[in-house]
Amino acid sequence: MIGDKKVLYSAVQATGNLTIGNYLGALRNWVNLCDEYECFFAVANEHSITVRQEPAALRKHARELLTLYIAAGLDPEKNCLYYQSHVPAHAELAWILNCYTYMGELSRMTQFKDKSAKHEDNVNAGLFTYPVLMAADILLFQADYVPVGVDQKQHLELTRDIAMRFNSIYGDVFTIPEVYLGKTGRKIMSLQDPSKKMSKSDENPNAYILMMDDKDTIIRKFKRAITDSDTQVRYSDDKPGVSNLIDIYASCTGKSTEEIEKEFEGQGYGQFKLAVGEAVADVLTPIQERYADLSKNKDYIDGIIKNNAEKANYFANKTLRKVQKKVGFPELIR
Ligand code: TYM
Repeated sequence: MIGDKKVLYSAVQATGNLTIGNYLGALRNWVNLCDEYECFFAVANEHSITVRQEPAALRKHARELLTLYIAAGLDPEKNCLYYQSHVPAHAELAWILNCYTYMGELSRMTQFKDKSAKHEDNVNAGLFTYPVLMAADILLFQADYVPVGVDQKQHLELTRDIAMRFNSIYGDVFTIPEVYLGKTGRKIMSLQDPSKKMSKSDENPNAYILMMDDKDTIIRKFKRAITDSDTQVRYSDDKPGVSNLIDIYASCTGKSTEEIEKEFEGQGYGQFKLAVGEAVADVLTPIQERYADLSKNKDYIDGIIKNNAEKANYFANKTLRKVQKKVGFPELIR
């Protein structure tokens, strides 16, 4: 708790070009929840270097992401939007928590298995201990809730296990966080292969919609989306392509599955795909416009980065000092 509010924490990696999966699975929920909670949203640039990055591009992407947080509707005066690398306590707590996490637990992480298969030439130790850094992010801020997409759920479960293990040895040090999953959009699938998660690293650009795609591109990509040989707009396990489009449409319009099925009864896929494209463009266009305006205002963004880094450091250091004391690190006498 901070004051009378519970704490919400989340982050996105600073690897550029967010998809509507990132938006509908995470960011949009942050915006919906932010009035109710004390919120910290990081630009997870330390996580990003588990895969080789070009330094100038990483710097640029971090700034773009923080700007996008504001453009998506997060008020930087009320929410703490900051760069992970500006808060040294993340790396320090991660080290300590590494010593309370088992190799076996980390070996079971599906993201590690996927990423190490994808980057065979660079299976570094950071990729392996990545979930511990994520646990440190969350636990530093004593978060009650962590809004993420389904793909991060396993990391959240590990975070809880680490926190409970630590608390059972040292007393009530960490708040045990709960995952928050939205009702819709928790796992947006590829438009070209609905058995795969939509991801910006997909080789086929038609598989994903980027938050910065213009309306024509969005509509074109939805027109090409894989459906099935049937013509019925119906949510069902045996219709993964259509079900994914229904989920996206529901996320963007707030309509229920039943309402959507009724709306497109007897109309075939052409009309439906066009409507999905338009609904997505309606959500993204105002964000893109605000983003363009904000990007011109360098001093404003610089000020936000500086002030929020101070705020994040203040709260993170409080937890870090407590943890250091518990494990037996002596205080520095000043
Ligand atoms: P990242 O950067 O891969 O994704 C950011 C957020 O977007 C969600 N997401 C999706 N949701 C629905 N459908 C999809 N296709 C989809 N793709 C991505 C993710 O679930 C996530 O919520 N390790 C994290 C970043 C992180 C973090 C944290 C998150 C670092 N520290 C602390 C929460 C708390 C990651 O790589 O997310």
